[in-house]
Amino acid sequence: MFVFKAAVVGAGTMGGEIAQTIANAEIPVVLKDVEQKFVDAGLEKARSLWQGRVDAGKLEAEELERKLGLITGTTSYDGFGDVDFVIEAVPERMEIKRAVFSELDEVTPGHAILASNTSSLSITEMGEATGRPEQVVGFHFFYPASVMRLIEVIEGEDTSPETTQTATNFAQAIRKMPIRCDEAPGFVVNRILNSSVSELWRFQEESGTDTKEIDRLVSESKAAPMGPFFLADLLGLDTVLHVAEHLQESYGDRFYVHKQMQELVAAGDLGVKTGKGFYEHSS
Ligand SMILES: NC(=O)c1ccc[n+]([C@@H]2O[C@H](COP(=O)([O-])OP(=O)(O)OC[C@H]3O[C@@H](n4cnc5c(N)ncnc54)[C@H](O)[C@@H]3O)[C@@H](O)[C@H]2O)c1
Repeated sequence: MFVFKAAVVGAGTMGGEIAQTIANAEIPVVLKDVEQKFVDAGLEKARSLWQGRVDAGKLEAEELERKLGLITGTTSYDGFGDVDFVIEAVPERMEIKRAVFSELDEVTPGHAILASNTSSLSITEMGEATGRPEQVVGFHFFYPASVMRLIEVIEGEDTSPETTQTATNFAQAIRKMPIRCDEAPGFVVNRILNSSVSELWRFQEESGTDTKEIDRLVSESKAAPMGPFFLADLLGLDTVLHVAEHLQESYGDRFYVHKQMQELVAAGDLGVKTGKGFYEHSS
């Protein structure tokens, strides 16, 4: 099946860039969130990515406007009646995801594939909230979605081979590199990433070393582009914490849950998106 029109639900840290990536491949896309200010922030993110290309002399200003016109922002399900592929990118909580999947089942055409950008949750459970579990699949982008090429295509227990094939083709159509994986906790990348980051988190709390000092040492060693605490602020501490907790529940204490991160999330300090996390961030 060819994807002529797509939709993204949730215009947060991931959703705006996912919509921009799809529109950049010339595929029209609807971008939905619960409030207009979140939709506007997602559209602004898309504009700023193309603006960077204009500033670098790689895109005409008129092209920016034309590409932006391929994204339709909305707070309702208007425009979902003729979509072929939907990517859900709402917060990492199963009850929110299941509610969204149940709504998508009502408002999209019967042939549409319903995909989730989840970092760790069960695709099978999301599929069970719909009448088409064979057309539900994981479609996991990495931050920042406009730049990172990998997409994990995750098969739930009921996902059909045709759905996996369409998701794989769609990933390639938007110039990404898909890998297929099973519904194992953390899938592939987060399981590998968290096993090393867990050790840094554990070391920090056991030794009492300053988080910024660890970030500085990691950056200076060039082992990674940035340290684990600054990275967590960028990704969103609620998302990072959820993945860490899920991995510890699934695989035991070889995965670590950082206590200060739990406290920050409980206080509503989620990193860049709220202006404060391990660091203070100006907007
Ligand atoms: N942040 C990352 O680095 C990252 C990377 C890969 C995957 N993910 C996954 O992507 C998903 C979204 O993460 P995020 O970091 O973009 O979260 P976020 O909190 O930045 O954004 C979520 C957005 O969803 C909106 N939303 C909430 N309920 C909604 C609903 N019912 N309908 C429409 N919109 C709704 C919120 O208003 C918010 O704008 C999560 O499943 C997360 O695990 C995140």
